[in-house]
Amino acid sequence: MNTGSSSSIGSNAGKGDNSTEPATGSNSISASSINRDGGGTGGTIFLISGPNLDLLGTREPTIYGTATLDMHVEAAAEEARRLGYSIEHFQSNHEGEIVDFIHSASGRAVAIIANLGALTHYSWSIRDALAAYNGIIVEVHLSNPVAREGFRHVSVLADIADGSIAGFGGIGYTLAVKAVRALL
Ligand code: DQA
Repeated sequence: MNTGSSSSIGSNAGKGDNSTEPATGSNSISASSINRDGGGTGGTIFLISGPNLDLLGTREPTIYGTATLDMHVEAAAEEARRLGYSIEHFQSNHEGEIVDFIHSASGRAVAIIANLGALTHYSWSIRDALAAYNGIIVEVHLSNPVAREGFRHVSVLADIADGSIAGFGGIGYTLAVKAVRALL
C-alpha cells in the first residue's frame, strides 16, 4: 500500500512566500561542488518530504515555523517555474515508500531536493537509493540540525548530496531550487 502523498506542480503553480519562517540555530549552506553553472534545459525536479513533515504548520512551530508543507512546496514550485522547471512532490512517513519513489527518479527527474526529516540521521536504505540515482541531489532542512540535539548532528546523506541547505526556514526550499539550476 502506498500511503505517500504525491503531487505534480507545473509551470503555473505556486505563489508561496514563506521567507519569514523561523529557523533554529545558525544557518549553513555547504556544497561539494559549487562551481557548475550553465543553462538549465527544464525538466522535473523531485521534491521529497520525509516523516512528520506533513504536520508542518502545527508541529513545533518555534522550531519549524507556521508555514505548512503545501506552502513550502508551492514556494519551491514557483521558483522552479521561474527557472523553467517543474516540481513533483512526494511526502511519506514510510521509509520504503520513499526508497521506491527515489527509484522512480532515474530517467524522470533531473534533480532531487530532499528533506527527509529524521530519516536523514539514520536511513541507510535511503542513502543507498540516492547513491544509485544519477542526478543532482540537494539536502534541505528547515532547522539547522547541527545546532540541535546530538542525534541530529549526523546526516547519512550529506556526503552523497551535491550540497546541503539548513537553518534558513522555508527560504531553504527556494534556495535549493536555485542550487539545482546552478548545478545543472
Ligand atoms: C528537519 C530536521 C530533522 O532533524 C527532523 O527530524 C525533522 C525536520 C528539518 O527540516 O529541520 O523532521 O529535517
